[in-house]
Amino acid sequence: MNWRKLRIFVVTALVLCLIPLTRYYQIDQPLLRFLRGSRHVDPLSLHLSGEFVENNLGTEQEPDGSVTVRMIAQQYLFIPHCILVPAGVPVHLRITSADAVHSLTFNGTDYAVKVLPGTISEAQLRFPRAGDYKTVCREFCGAGHYAMRSELKVVPRDQFPALRPEERGNCAAQ
Ligand code: CUA
Repeated sequence: MNWRKLRIFVVTALVLCLIPLTRYYQIDQPLLRFLRGSRHVDPLSLHLSGEFVENNLGTEQEPDGSVTVRMIAQQYLFIPHCILVPAGVPVHLRITSADAVHSLTFNGTDYAVKVLPGTISEAQLRFPRAGDYKTVCREFCGAGHYAMRSELKVVPRDQFPALRPEERGNCAAQ
């Protein structure tokens, strides 16, 4: 092999290696998610696909009796606006932001969950007694920050499993 042929070979090989780099967005989603980490989420497509689509938000009962709550924080509300959980069971919270940085707090508790766009914040919560809690944003997030509050209803543990799935995420049915 002479030098000219070798040079053509090397340049061709380099170009072939570069093509996948310019096509990175065509890499299939699971691989991309793996590369970015499982907590990455695209704030612009929350409502369109994935874990945080509207009918997946709210409270979901797990087989072990605990519940998972999925929420979105956005200027200037929490979605769902009112959530329902059973008293005394572990609550796995998964929340992300559609825009700015927010902080989800529950009045009367020490819980504070920082919520950032592009990533899923997770927290393990437990509310020992039934009752109503105001949920308040405690991170300045813009003009409507002081009005950014919603509600958490904690119902007695034995009442919760009797609720229909559509009643669990939405206090309006109570
Ligand atoms: Cu959201 Cu302050």
